[in-house]
Amino acid sequence: MRNISVAVDGPAGSGKSTVAKLIAKKMNIVYIDTGAMYRAVGLYCLENGIDTKNEREVLDILPKIDLDIKANSNGQTILLNGVDVTSKVRTQEAGKSASDVAQILGVREKLVEIQREMAKGTSVIMDGRDIGTNVLPNADVKIFLNATVLERAKRRVGELQALGETPDLESIKEQIRKRDENDINREHNPLRKAEDAFELDTTGMTIEEVTEKILSIIEEKVK
Ligand code: DC
Repeated sequence: MRNISVAVDGPAGSGKSTVAKLIAKKMNIVYIDTGAMYRAVGLYCLENGIDTKNEREVLDILPKIDLDIKANSNGQTILLNGVDVTSKVRTQEAGKSASDVAQILGVREKLVEIQREMAKGTSVIMDGRDIGTNVLPNADVKIFLNATVLERAKRRVGELQALGETPDLESIKEQIRKRDENDINREHNPLRKAEDAFELDTTGMTIEEVTEKILSIIEEKVK
């Protein structure tokens, strides 16, 4: 099989990571979660008292951040300056900081370079916000996943409960709305469906249904 690349974009909680990870396993290709990279930068800022809304402060510490991403059969492991932060980046706070630092062009340039490098010479499925529009504009298949705010908030509540947190649905809904606003309205590479992407509203669909649908789109496109 020749190398293929699949770009999966969409807003927070649209099911991108869960589905992309499953597809990577089924197709035996590399899964790259780009959101985790923004989250790792956000986490570093949180842990080091950096104001994520202050572009100068973030750009000053950026060279001190070394990210090492290792793809494995369960997804990926992310090392922040040598420390495994794969679970730590999943918190709400890291997500919020990620959305802030993702506004900064210098941060995006650093992470996009890593992402493109990882996609070279191998088959990948990469998820994020700007994969089809910016990171891999020539991807063989582009998918844009969406779902209502309520559905996405319910999914996030489930994820956070699994981490031992006790989230409140209303405040998660509000956070998702704010995060969408941040991600859609930012100046550099905002969340946007690529013109040639297949859009799928996953509201009311099971993970299996979404996975099957995307697999059939991939098969159709690359046969
Ligand atoms: O998918 P996620 O929730 O893990 O992403 C966290 C934040 O990172 C999200 O609010 C926006 C940002 N992000 C981005 O700007 N570009 C990407 N390719 C991936 C994530």
